[in-house]
Amino acid sequence: MIHIKTAAEIELIRESALLVSQTLAELALILRAGITTELLNARAEEFILDNKAVPSFKNYKGYPFATCISVNDAIVHGFPNKNEIQEGDLVSIDVGVYKNGYHGDSAYTFGILPILSEHQLLMKVTRESLLMGIEKAHVGNRVGDISFAVQDFAERKYNYGVVRELVGHGLGRHLHEDPQVPNFGKKGTGAKLKEGMVIAIEPMINLGTKDVYYDEDGWTVRTKDGKFSAHYEHTICVKKGKADILSSFDQIVINESKNPALIADY
Ligand code: MF3
Ligand code: CO
Repeated sequence: MIHIKTAAEIELIRESALLVSQTLAELALILRAGITTELLNARAEEFILDNKAVPSFKNYKGYPFATCISVNDAIVHGFPNKNEIQEGDLVSIDVGVYKNGYHGDSAYTFGILPILSEHQLLMKVTRESLLMGIEKAHVGNRVGDISFAVQDFAERKYNYGVVRELVGHGLGRHLHEDPQVPNFGKKGTGAKLKEGMVIAIEPMINLGTKDVYYDEDGWTVRTKDGKFSAHYEHTICVKKGKADILSSFDQIVINESKNPALIADY
């Protein structure tokens, strides 16, 4: 069942989503080669708790951390660990927060300089594929219109691998609500988009094959061919004409440009 949110609920989800964005922006200030993903996770968790919120992911279906940090061939659900980030890494950070009874969810992939130009393009195209999907997230369309737009751009235009096993989702009182929002599909199919539906759109795009495998930790999803992957996610609200993006990359991009270790202009 798809819950339609009231204007008041949407504002609470916006507050949670913007706190996620601020958390990612905090991490953009400290990311560099030599830092461990464990430390990034600790900083994120501290920031969330300081802002009177709770990390949505911690203990969700047994997931043990506040954030998912997925490096290079890890696509999503990477465990923070003691490994130091290296130059040339792609670091995807996914954060969810729960505040005032509502979740927000967003993810961003950072490039640790110097990075390969093919990885730079992967990041740019993945981010653009998210925007292509968001462009279709308005009243009058269906979920499949979002799915098709993401897939068509990343797969047909760039020949990247679009991950099938994991999908975007509705959210609100729960982290995962209906509908599922795949990053592949057919125009004009799936649930009708209605004003007040809140969904997370989250393309996971691989440089090589779309095929994945699960790490022995039972969570980390990796590319089968070991090539790199990128992941960007926004929480959005369906409206007439144009979606309302409830999370924001604005401060993340500003902080990326202030941090000499990060690629800012891609
Ligand atoms: N953004 C991801 C999702 O919505 C993060 C979930 S991680 C989990 O599925 F650990 F909470 F499962
Ligand atoms: Co999500």
